Amino acid sequence: MASPTSLPSLLDSMKAQAPSWEQIKRTPLFILTNYSNVLMFLFFVGAGLWQNKRKRDEAKKVPQHSALPAPDFPTITELEKFDLKTTEPLKLRPFKPKYHLTMDGDTALETLDPNDLLLMDKNYQPRITHRRRIIEQNTTIAIGVNNDKRIRPAVCDLYSFLTGTYLPLRYPTMFRIHHTEYEYGKASVLQNLVTGEMLPTSATGASTPTFALLRTLGRHLDEDFLLLLPETNAQGGVKKDAKYVLEAYVACCPSGFNPAEKLGKKLRDIHGPVPGYAEKLEGSMDRFFAKLEDGKYVKRANWSVSMDGELFQPGLGTTHALEGDEVREFTGELDPDKTFVRCERQTLHRLPKSKALVFGIKTYLYPLREIKEEGLGEELAAAIDGLKEGNIPEMHFYKRGGEWGTAVKKYLRS
Ligand SMILES: *[C@@H]1O[C@H](CO)[C@@H](O)[C@H](O)[C@H]1NC(C)=O
Ligand SMILES: *[C@@H]1O[C@H](CO)[C@@H](O)[C@H](O)[C@H]1NC(C)=O
Repeated sequence: MASPTSLPSLLDSMKAQAPSWEQIKRTPLFILTNYSNVLMFLFFVGAGLWQNKRKRDEAKKVPQHSALPAPDFPTITELEKFDLKTTEPLKLRPFKPKYHLTMDGDTALETLDPNDLLLMDKNYQPRITHRRRIIEQNTTIAIGVNNDKRIRPAVCDLYSFLTGTYLPLRYPTMFRIHHTEYEYGKASVLQNLVTGEMLPTSATGASTPTFALLRTLGRHLDEDFLLLLPETNAQGGVKKDAKYVLEAYVACCPSGFNPAEKLGKKLRDIHGPVPGYAEKLEGSMDRFFAKLEDGKYVKRANWSVSMDGELFQPGLGTTHALEGDEVREFTGELDPDKTFVRCERQTLHRLPKSKALVFGIKTYLYPLREIKEEGLGEELAAAIDGLKEGNIPEMHFYKRGGEWGTAVKKYLRS
């Protein structure tokens, strides 16, 4: 027999005390009303407390380092715990057994998540130091602004989005916005937490020259930017089937072209010496540019071999060969730590207000030893041969394969 304190008997005695339905039915109405009032009261107190807690939780969620609104741009997600010092550079490996020049570059053109417009890694500090030296010493090559009144709003658009919104949101451990209230109104500055420097977040102050905005971007970001706008007709309207013209840039890592000579020129002329460009690429490229909607971001990558690892290569002769150039084969001892695969990660998007196209280019250098140690030696060696076997066999010559091809393949296959 169960003892009187066992669970079943306890439940029985509770049941006996609880009012049965019959009893409730017999309860006078005013008592029932009181019950429901108490219940309602409890409900409202509960709801109030819950809402309060939710508000407190939400307040905690508001990004610590706020940003300026940029409603025309895609929403950016924070990388709250991003650690610059331990983030390795992206490993691009765009080698293919056969080289086909298409609009896609050396790899397929892919959709890009706008959050990944700019990538940061532990090379940031040495890179921006190098960039600042190029900007100081070779200013007229590294930065250019065409004389076109449409270009200032475009540069301002890009500048404000990056400094006011993208950087403090995406990389809050590297960039932080500070708000101040001056006598004449509110203002905010962006602090680069890596260097400690302060920069303006808004480009609308008419006093900052367009050139200076590009310089600031070039000094604080390991990324080159080329801004393109469609050609205009005599009345200043956009031409039908307009081609895109380079209107402004900051470029500290040009690879085989002097951007200053390309300013004000059409894309076709920018790519002037690329073999096969006119036949294979020009038409589809222009159509693609004209159609790219704002909000849609794309990326691609290309590769080449660099014998010296210098990022600033504004002279064509050092990285590429043209018809008639003599390319001498390298016969010395190849140093696999000082010979690099040079890759460009190129992004493209359209600015929502000015409708300018922005090319972003981040350049990576990978020592040959790294490629080989990853077990990709044969793959790269095959891709070097593949330069001659695709739809533009001249690519091997153009990339100066005749100079480094044999030595690099020998090392990769050793
Ligand atoms: C860049 O500047 C340095 C220092 O003034 C100079 O030696 C070098 O020739 C310049 N490079 C080019 C391509 O003009
Ligand atoms: C990548 O392509 C661009 C043109 O789209 C060219 O200027 C550059 O030299 C190429 N880079 C490499 C590393 O091949």
